[in-house]
Amino acid sequence: MAMKKIVVIPGDGIGKEVMEAAMLVLNSLDLPFKYEYYEAGDEAFKKYGKALPDETLEACKNCDAVLFGAAGETAADVIVKLRQELETFANVRPAKSLKGVKCLYDNVDIVIVRENTECLYKGLEFELDGVAECIRIVTRKASERIARFAFELAKREGRKKVTALHKANVMKKTCGLFRDCCRKVAKEYPEIEFNEYYIDAACLYLVTDPKRFDVIVTTNMFGDIVSDLAAGLVGGLGLAPSANIGERHAIFEPVHGAAFDIAGKGIANPTAMILSACMMLRHLGFLDEAKKVEKAVEDVIAEGKTTPDLGGKLKTMEMANEIVKKLEK
Ligand code: NAI
Ligand code: MG
Repeated sequence: MAMKKIVVIPGDGIGKEVMEAAMLVLNSLDLPFKYEYYEAGDEAFKKYGKALPDETLEACKNCDAVLFGAAGETAADVIVKLRQELETFANVRPAKSLKGVKCLYDNVDIVIVRENTECLYKGLEFELDGVAECIRIVTRKASERIARFAFELAKREGRKKVTALHKANVMKKTCGLFRDCCRKVAKEYPEIEFNEYYIDAACLYLVTDPKRFDVIVTTNMFGDIVSDLAAGLVGGLGLAPSANIGERHAIFEPVHGAAFDIAGKGIANPTAMILSACMMLRHLGFLDEAKKVEKAVEDVIAEGKTTPDLGGKLKTMEMANEIVKKLEK
C-alpha cells in the first residue's frame, strides 16, 4: 500500500503533550504512514514572526491528512486560517457518553456538524474611532454544502434526525439564509427527520434533554460554542475529538485548545487527541485500527485509568501507555 503522508502539528501548551500521547498510540500500530512534524502557534510566531509559517501551510496542502494539537492566543491565525485555506468546510464533532465517566446523562450520542469557513470567524473585523465591527458572511453555497454534509453523515451512520441551530428571528438575513438552505436540503432526505431550534433554546435543551438531538448542523461560531457545551455534557473537553473535512484535505484535532492552566504539568487528558487520530484512521480507510484504538480507550476509561479531569491519578503519558498495553493484548 502506498505510504500516507501525515503532517503533525503539536502546537502550543497541552497540544504538545496530547500529541506525544497520540503518537505513542499511533506508533504502536503497524500503519503505512510517514509522519512529518511542523510548527505553528504562539511559539512559532515568536520564532518566525508568523503563527502559521509558509512551509507549514505548504505541507498541509500536500499531505493525506493533518494531525493538529492546539494553538494558543494565535489560534485564529493558525487553525481557523488552516480550515479556510484548506477549505475543510465541515467540522465534525461527536459528543458521546462513555462508560465510567461521571456526567449528567449516560446515553448522549450527538454529532455536531459545524460550518467551518465563514460566519463571524471569517476575520472581517474593523475598528475606527471607538467603533468596532465584525462582518458576518453566510452564503447559499456554503450553507447548502454543510447541510448536505450533515444529512449525508446522518444517512451513512444510520442516524435518524438532523437539527439546524440558528437565530433567524433576530439575524434575519444571515441566519435566515442558513435556515432556508437547511430546509431546502432537508427535502432531499425525506427518510431523515429534520427540525430546528433557535440557538439559545437549543443550549437549554442540550443541558435538560440532550436526547432530542442526533445530528446538529449549525454555523461556525454557534458550532464552536455548542461543541464545548456538548463536550461538557459528556465529561469535558479532554474527551472531545473533531475532524475538519473538505473535498481535498482533512485536519484532525481535539475540540480543546492549549489549556495553559494545566500545560506543563503532564496531566492533560489525551483522549480527545487520540480519538481525533481515530477519526483520521477512519477517514483514511483504516477502520479496524480505528475501532481497536477506540475500544482500548473506552476500556481504559471504564477501568478508571485516567487523568485527573476524569477523577483518575494518571499522567498524560501513563494513560497513553495503558491504551497501548490494551492494544498489545
Ligand atoms: P481550552 O480548550 O484550552 O481549555 C478550557 C478548559 O478545559 C480549561 O480549564 C482546560 O484545563 C480544560 N481542558 C482542555 N483540554 C483538556 C484536556 N485535554 N484535559 C483536561 N482538561 C482540559 O480553552 P481556553 O482555556 O479558553 O483557551 C486556552 C488557549 O487555547 C487560548 O490561548 C485559546 O486561544 C486557545 N484555543 C485554541 C484552540 C485551538 O487551537 N483549536 C481552541 C480553543 C482555544
Ligand atoms: Mg472552540
